[in-house]
Amino acid sequence: SQTTQRAADGELTVGGVGVTRIAQEIGTPALVVDEDDFRARARRFRAAFAEAFAPHAGASTYYAGKAFLCVAVARWMDEEGLGLDVCTGGELAVALRAGFPGARMALHGNNKSDAEIRRALEAGIGRIVADSLEEIERIAEIAAEAGVRAPIMLRVTTGVEAHTHEFIATAHEDQKFGISISSGLALEAVRRTLARAEHLELIGLHSHIGSQIFDTGGFEVAARRVLDLVARVREELGHTIDHLDLGGGFGVMYNSQHTPSSAESLAAGIAGIIEKQCHELDLPVPHLAFEPGRAIAGPSTQTLYEVGTVKDVHLGGSHHRVYVSVDGGMSDNVRTALYDADYSCLLSSRTSGAVPAIVRVVGKHCESGDIVVKDEYLPADVRRGDLVSVPVTGAYCYSLASNYNHVPRPAVVAVKDGELRTLVRRETEDDLLALDAG
Ligand code: LLP
Repeated sequence: SQTTQRAADGELTVGGVGVTRIAQEIGTPALVVDEDDFRARARRFRAAFAEAFAPHAGASTYYAGKAFLCVAVARWMDEEGLGLDVCTGGELAVALRAGFPGARMALHGNNKSDAEIRRALEAGIGRIVADSLEEIERIAEIAAEAGVRAPIMLRVTTGVEAHTHEFIATAHEDQKFGISISSGLALEAVRRTLARAEHLELIGLHSHIGSQIFDTGGFEVAARRVLDLVARVREELGHTIDHLDLGGGFGVMYNSQHTPSSAESLAAGIAGIIEKQCHELDLPVPHLAFEPGRAIAGPSTQTLYEVGTVKDVHLGGSHHRVYVSVDGGMSDNVRTALYDADYSCLLSSRTSGAVPAIVRVVGKHCESGDIVVKDEYLPADVRRGDLVSVPVTGAYCYSLASNYNHVPRPAVVAVKDGELRTLVRRETEDDLLALDAG
C-alpha cells in the first residue's frame, strides 16, 4: 500500500528513496513513513465520513495521535483538515508546538490532571472528553477559575467490547474508561453537565469500543445504546444531544486474514446504521465524529532493520529453527510480544534466488520473547548486513517504544518524491545518559 517498488537491482524503494540510502544516511533501525500514503489515508477517511453524513449534519474526523504523533504529523493532519485527538499533556505539547488549532483538538484520558485540563482550556480546546462524574465537576471548577466555558463530551460505556473479528455485547463494563449507560450514571452525568451550564457546554456523547475492528456489528450495538440514551435525555431532560463521537478502531491488514473495508464502504455502512436507528427512535441524525489512528498511520510506515546474527538452532531430530536477529526489537515494536501481533518481513536490500525458508525474526534484547515476526519466509541465504523491512509499523510501534536495555529509540523519517526527511531524530546514548543524575 505504500509507494513501495523494487528497483532494477532488486533494492526496495519507498517514496522514491532506496532503503540502502536510508540505512546509510539515517542508520537502522529506522521507521520509514511514506508521507503521501499517510496523508492520503487521512484525507480519504475525512472525505468518506463527511460525504456519508453530508445529507444530515455532517461528520468530522479526528486523527488519534496515540497511534503515532510528532510535530510533522500534527501539521500534516492540520493541512489535510482533520481534527486531532490527544490524551496527555505530552501529546498536547506536540500538537501545540505544531501550531495545531486548539478548536480542532480533543482531549481524552481516564485520569487527566488539573494541569492538563487547564492547559487544554488555555489552548482553546474544542472538546474535553470527560471520563467520570468526578471529572465533570473538576472541569467545571477549572473552567470557572479560568473564566471560560469548557466544551465537553461525555465518554459513555455501552457494554460493547470489540476485538479483531468479534465483538461481545454484554458484561464488558469491567474496565476503567467511561461512564456506564446501563447503571444510569451516564444519564446522571448529562444531568450534572447541564446543571453546570454556566461553565460547561455539553457538546455531545462519545463511545469507543476497541481497536483493530473489521466488523461494523460492534458499532451498531454501541450506537444503538448511545442513541437510546439520547432519546432518554430528550424525554427526561428536554435536551437534544446533536453530536456523537464513535471513536476509532478501524482495522488494518497485518496479514492476509485481515480484510479491512475501504474508508468509503465503512463510512457508508455506519451511516446506514445510524440513519436506521435514528429513524426508529424518531431522532434527527446527529453530527458524527470518528477517531481513526491505526488505519491512518499503520500502513504508511515500515521499519527498516539490519540483519546481524543468523543462527540455525537444532531442535532435535530433523527439526530446527533459523533465528534472524535484527538491530532493534521489542524496544521499537513491542506489539508481537505484548499482543501476539502478526507482522511480516521481507528482504529489502536485494532480491535473492535462494529458496525461501521459514525463519523467526528476533530483536537484540535480553529476553526470549523479543520476537518481531514469529514465522516468516525469507530467502535461505539471508545474512549479516542485509536490510529487512517490516511493513505496517506506523501505529503503536514508535508510540509504544521504550529504552529497554538502554537501546536508544530509532529515527523516524519521511520519504516523498525521492526526498528523505527526518521527523524524529534517533536517540543517542548521550540522550539516555542526560537523564541519569549520577
Ligand atoms: N479514540 C479513543 C478514545 C481511543 O482510545 C483509541 C485507541 C482511538 C480513538 C484510536 O483507535 P485506532 O483507530 O487506532 O484503533 N496499543 C494498542 C492499541 C490501543 C488503542 C487505544 N485506544 C495496539 O497496539 O494495538
